[in-house]
Amino acid sequence: MNPYLNDFPVLGEKRDGKRLVYLDNAATTQKPLSVIQAVDEYYRRSNANPHRGLYELSIRATKMYEDARESVRAFINAGKACEVLFTRNASESLNLVAYSYGMNFIHEGDEIALPVSEHHSNLLPWQMVAKAKGAKLVYLYPDSCGRLPERELNKIGPKTALVAVAHVSNVLGTVYPVQEIVRRAHAVGAVVVLDCAQSIPHYPVDVKKLDVDFAAFSGHKMLAPMGIGVLYGKEELLNQMPPFLTGGEMIEYVSEQNATFAPLPQKFEAGTQNVGGAVGLSAAIDYMKKVGYDTIIKTEEDLLAYALDGMAKIPHVTVYGDTKAGEQRCGVISFNVDGVHPHDVSSILDSDGVAIRAGHHCAQPLMKYLGVNATCRASLYFYNTREDIDVFLASLKKVRGWLGLGT
Ligand SMILES: Cc1ncc(COP(=O)(O)O)c(C=O)c1O
Repeated sequence: MNPYLNDFPVLGEKRDGKRLVYLDNAATTQKPLSVIQAVDEYYRRSNANPHRGLYELSIRATKMYEDARESVRAFINAGKACEVLFTRNASESLNLVAYSYGMNFIHEGDEIALPVSEHHSNLLPWQMVAKAKGAKLVYLYPDSCGRLPERELNKIGPKTALVAVAHVSNVLGTVYPVQEIVRRAHAVGAVVVLDCAQSIPHYPVDVKKLDVDFAAFSGHKMLAPMGIGVLYGKEELLNQMPPFLTGGEMIEYVSEQNATFAPLPQKFEAGTQNVGGAVGLSAAIDYMKKVGYDTIIKTEEDLLAYALDGMAKIPHVTVYGDTKAGEQRCGVISFNVDGVHPHDVSSILDSDGVAIRAGHHCAQPLMKYLGVNATCRASLYFYNTREDIDVFLASLKKVRGWLGLGT
């Protein structure tokens, strides 16, 4: 019995007598009771507009919001709390960097290097910048195991001004060699934008150790509510960047024709902020600390190896990327079943209570590179069990038979 299962109310749900086997954790994770209760408690007792009121309730809401910022700072080992900006999600964080840094510090002839596996959220903002500024997008192509070979890393060169890279690919599950990428990027004066959306739920992210210039992630993929995200940025860079969104709370002084802006982090937090979300994120961090990354990694490694072994024994199933568990491989398994559309695979699995994702996973350039339009994706978290994998494998075995195809 997984000791954490009971902390997640939805995982105890049954439909038509079937237990939910939730294997779509890369899309969003389920929420533990402690997070649900922290948000509930905030709205019951402490809700007010932060940074705006001089009365006790608003001061309390402000303190809870800023305490959450400090909790994120410590969790990612940022030097200062002002380097932690709250956003809606990883997509908004990455757009902030593209609009505010990219549009001002990327110039004609510069190169922006990125793996072809990037999620659209860390690709489209750079397409936009490249088009607007006359820069060039240089893609790095993974090998058949999903890794970036030396010849691709060598594309980070003298013209590179920015490298955008996911810590973990949301399709292949590859853990990219961030420290090596940062070393190469900094050697040529480029900045590194790290998309941690798929890594921070599973691996520690130490922004100081990694020495990345920016790091983005979403709360909802790490047990927190939807609608809260984080952008970490080095203070000296954030200070040079203009605001992304303008409006309330991000100003110092406004006259009819001009404005000066608040210091960090308020400069990048226009409008009323999601205090409930920040409180939920802080509770999620507390929960993750209680479980511990060691347990998360160990549990997921076991489940990944078990799932990959089982899938290798099912005929007509192709797994993309590395087919073996290991240090450079996270528990995201993209696969196809010969002759069956991924949407049909997903629907058939759903009839057994198994929730997986099917589609292009917001990574269409990678799909084209892999020679497919779509894949199925099973993604694991520490609250999954070997029993979950057994139900998944049994259901997967039935897929072709269901459709009258040879098994
Ligand atoms: C690697 C990666 N980056 C960015 C995102 C975007 O996250 P969000 O939709 O929360 O902004 C996702 C979401 O699936 C992702 O997997």
